[in-house]
Amino acid sequence: MANDDVVTVDVPTSSGMRRLGESLAAVVTSGDVVLLSGPLGAGKTTFAQGIGKGLGIDEPIVSPTFTIARELSGRFASGAPARLVHVDAYRIGGVEHAPGSDVATALLDELESLGLDEELESPSDGTVVLMEWGEHMAGILSDERLEISIDRSLAVAGTGASPQSSESSELTSDGLRHVRLSLIGSSWQRRAAAIRRAASAAVEGAAPALGTDETAE
Ligand SMILES: Nc1ncnc2c1ncn2[C@@H]1O[C@H](COP(=O)(O)OP(=O)(O)O)[C@@H](O)[C@H]1O
Ligand SMILES: [Mg+2]
Repeated sequence: MANDDVVTVDVPTSSGMRRLGESLAAVVTSGDVVLLSGPLGAGKTTFAQGIGKGLGIDEPIVSPTFTIARELSGRFASGAPARLVHVDAYRIGGVEHAPGSDVATALLDELESLGLDEELESPSDGTVVLMEWGEHMAGILSDERLEISIDRSLAVAGTGASPQSSESSELTSDGLRHVRLSLIGSSWQRRAAAIRRAASAAVEGAAPALGTDETAE
């Protein structure tokens, strides 16, 4: 109904987050751009690991410290070869630049030096761009993208976990994550049903709270 379809799903565990990435990998195709946002420890890399698994990538998917982008080889659900460009813009977009500074330009410069700037605007055949801290780039990208935002909930509802774990324990123990997938552009909106199915399959048996978010801005 709305211009931008939104799918929301609550993911209680890190393995659930990996499953979500893995099942979404089945709907990902050549030329896709997927942006991940959320605070440090939200689960962006965990989700990326699921995508990697779903694309049959053997190499470990980690957040590189000194590079901002890595290229990994896998294959699509169709069997065609896939090249995953995993970008982690934390160093550029996450901390060192204040909000509102020209993060997008700084990131584009870095990607250009890696020969990857073109990939963001129009990924080449067989390429999928998956970008952590990608929210800074949304404005300069193509109209077609999947934006995934992950939020940690501070009140851990419905689990036995200690609700007031305010410090580092929260980053390592399983905890509920609210995931919001914004399907931007017609190529993603055409896949809405498959994405909803993938999301609900990923959290099956784990009290899914899945639905279309029509009111949130
Ligand atoms: N429901 C969940 N989804 C994803 N990660 C979770 C979840 N619950 C706990 N975690 C933990 O949170 C951390 C997320 O780290 P990571 O994926 O590297 O975050 P980011 O890349 O967003 O900084 C991991 O230690 C993971 O095990
Ligand atoms: Mg990360």
